[in-house]
Amino acid sequence: MDILIGLQWGDEGKGKIIDLISRDYDIIARFNGGANAGHSIYHNGKRITLKLLPSGIFYPHIKNIIGTGVVIDPLALQAEVKLLQSIISDTEIINRILISEKAHLVLPTYKYWDMYLEESLQYRTIGTTKNGIAPTYSNKILRQNVRVGDIFSKDFETYVFQILNKQYAELQALGQDMPPVQELYDNFLEACSFFKKLQITDTEISINEALKNNKKVLAEGAQATLLDIDHGTYPYVTSSNTIASAACVGLGVSPKLIDKIYGVTKAYCTRVGNGIFPTEITGSLADELREKGGEFGSNTKRPRRVGWLDLPALKYAVMLNGVTDLVLTKADILNGMSEVPICTAYETDGETRTLAAPKCVDNAPKPIWKFLDGWLSPLGKIDQKAQIPKELKLFISFLEEELNIPIKYLSTGPQREELIILG
Ligand code: GTP
Repeated sequence: MDILIGLQWGDEGKGKIIDLISRDYDIIARFNGGANAGHSIYHNGKRITLKLLPSGIFYPHIKNIIGTGVVIDPLALQAEVKLLQSIISDTEIINRILISEKAHLVLPTYKYWDMYLEESLQYRTIGTTKNGIAPTYSNKILRQNVRVGDIFSKDFETYVFQILNKQYAELQALGQDMPPVQELYDNFLEACSFFKKLQITDTEISINEALKNNKKVLAEGAQATLLDIDHGTYPYVTSSNTIASAACVGLGVSPKLIDKIYGVTKAYCTRVGNGIFPTEITGSLADELREKGGEFGSNTKRPRRVGWLDLPALKYAVMLNGVTDLVLTKADILNGMSEVPICTAYETDGETRTLAAPKCVDNAPKPIWKFLDGWLSPLGKIDQKAQIPKELKLFISFLEEELNIPIKYLSTGPQREELIILG
């Protein structure tokens, strides 16, 4: 099984790369997160944002697995399937998707917990997408939650009714605004009955059998390394593990069966929400980079924070994931700059580190900069390695040397064909 993950704080352009390589696979599987992700894919020239569905959905030969580590909001899944109906028929979609019976369900009260924590309590504002993802993982760990397979149990409706009413009363006591509980319950059950039409199974067995039969499986990560609940910039992280090893847990595949690990990085950095960002820039330069790079949330449209490439953090991400194949995206956005800054080390209390985890601590590191010559010609028109401007070639070889792995793909624009295979 191969794995593709993001090496920064998300939005590296994983969607385009997955879409590009996915045609060579038999199975594409999601292993973490929920409808808080947002891969952008171009299908017949139209930009489509997938939130829960794996990126192989547009290929008839690919089975798309929503694995055990994913948390599923039945309403969000139903809405996403409906959105694709003009492109793929219902029957075809049902054919192409397999859902883990052990994946956890996002209950309708959970997004109001998110809202309460983020908007009313404001003790610690993370900047979540308020899709109820963290409360789902919390209730999973508390062993109070319901899973996809429970939909078929005779006690399902009673249990959901009880848990919804209990949580609703708690939220009401805290002053949280919500629609009537009966409305939440009815909509949820309606979406669950739609769910029953989909193929729900032990996806870990399906994947392992496929691997045994030499089928090719790609595990696609949502969010990215520096948002990992354990190794990211806690508490400003997502609520699941996002690194490559999480694919083994989230899909039920042995680490022995992992082959390639694709790591995707932009030529600069962005992050959404709060938390440390050592190479962040602000002011007009930041506004220009944000506009040029289209750095606004694909789901929320929130402006992303922007900054320069952070090598200590990138080395850390490459190490955590064991990246074998590096992908560099959005180098075209830096086109036209006379010089391109790269942070090569962090300095904290007189100590310099060239590989480091960015941490949310009082004593933020001071970035040490290196300035490389910028590339001045547009990249959109080039399609061969030989046409890459020499300054960008130097940027690439500098990164390869520092990270000690080759860059396999260079993405030069949002469209599928805007990609150069380097190695
Ligand atoms: P998350 O799962 O939310 O982290 O998203 P992602 O990593 O899949 O990124 P997403 O596809 O949402 O956002 C990246 C945006 O950049 C999309 O609009 C892509 O079409 C676009 N994009 C991808 N690669 C390139 C590139 O090389 N150049 C430019 N200009 N745009 C790119």
